[in-house]
Amino acid sequence: MNNLLSAFEVYLREHLPKAPSFHPYYEKALGEMLLAGGKRFRAALVLATATGIDETSAPKAMSVALAIETFHAYSLIHDDLPAMDDADFRRSRPTLHKTYDEVTAILVGDALNTHSFLHLANAPISDEAKVKLIAILAENGGAAGMVLGQALDCRFEGRKLDAQKVEFIHRRKTGALIAASLQMGAIAGGADDPLAKRLYDFGMNLGLYFQIRDDIIDATQDSATAGKPTQNDENKNGFVTLFGLEAARDRANAEASKLKKVIADFPGGLSGNLSEILRAYF
Ligand code: IPE
Ligand code: IPE
Ligand code: MG
Ligand code: MG
Ligand code: MG
Repeated sequence: MNNLLSAFEVYLREHLPKAPSFHPYYEKALGEMLLAGGKRFRAALVLATATGIDETSAPKAMSVALAIETFHAYSLIHDDLPAMDDADFRRSRPTLHKTYDEVTAILVGDALNTHSFLHLANAPISDEAKVKLIAILAENGGAAGMVLGQALDCRFEGRKLDAQKVEFIHRRKTGALIAASLQMGAIAGGADDPLAKRLYDFGMNLGLYFQIRDDIIDATQDSATAGKPTQNDENKNGFVTLFGLEAARDRANAEASKLKKVIADFPGGLSGNLSEILRAYF
C-alpha cells in the first residue's frame, strides 16, 4: 500500500491541472490543496480495492484515485468558505480564501470539480467502464449525494436533529464519496457489478464510521494535530455535539466491529488490502 501511495503522489504531481494565463496566481492556486496532501484516504481505498481484485490494475486505478482526490479537494475548499464552515486553515495551511480571496477559492473549487471528470474521461480504461465511473462520481458527489449532505449540514446548523437524520447527513456528505471510491476502485480492477455494489455498501458504512471519527477529532484533537480548526462543531449536528463523547466513541467502536466482520467475507486479496487500510488509518 505504501508503494502505491508513493506512486500516487508522483502521478498527482505529473497530472496537476494546467491553466496558463496572465492571471497572477490562479494556476498555482489550482494545485495548492492537492499538493497539501491530506491523508489520501480515498485514493488509498481506490488503489486497495482495484489491486485487491487485480494486482495489475494499478495504472488504471491511478487516474481514478486522482479523480476522487481532486473532487474531494474541491469539496474541502468549498466546505471551508466563510458561507459554509468558515475555516482559516486546512491540511496545516491557510485555506485558499485566506491565502488569496473568496473568488479564487470558489472558482478553484469549481475547476477541480469538473477536472475530476476529465481525469475519468482520460483514464486508460474501456469506454464502457469510464461511463460507469463518471456516473458513479456524479451521483455520489452531486445533487443527491455529497452536495445534499452539505446542504443539510449547513441548513440545520444550530437546530438539533435526531440520530436518524444525523446519520442521513453523514452518509451523504462523507459516506457517498467514500462508497464511490470503493465502487470505482472495483470497476478499475475489473470487478463484476454485484461485487462492486457490495463494496459500495461497505463503503457507505465505512464513511459513516469515518465521519463519526471526524466528529470525535473535532472534539478531542488540537488544531495543529488535526491540521484544521477543531472545537468548531458546537452548532453542527455531529455525533459528539448531540450525544456526547462517550456515546460517539461507543458508536464508532460498534461500527468498527461491523466493518471488520464484513471485510473478512470479501475475497482474499481484497480482504487483506482493506484490513491493511483499517489498520493504517484508524
Ligand atoms: C475531511 O476529510 C472531510 C471529511 C469528510 C471529514 P479527510 O479527513 O479525509 O481530509 P484529508 O483528505 O485528510 O485532508
Ligand atoms: C465535511 O465535513 C464533509 C465534506 C463534504 C467536505 P466537515 O465539515 O466535518 O469536514 P472538516 O471537519 O471540515 O474536515
Ligand atoms: Mg462541513
Ligand atoms: Mg468543515
Ligand atoms: Mg469535521
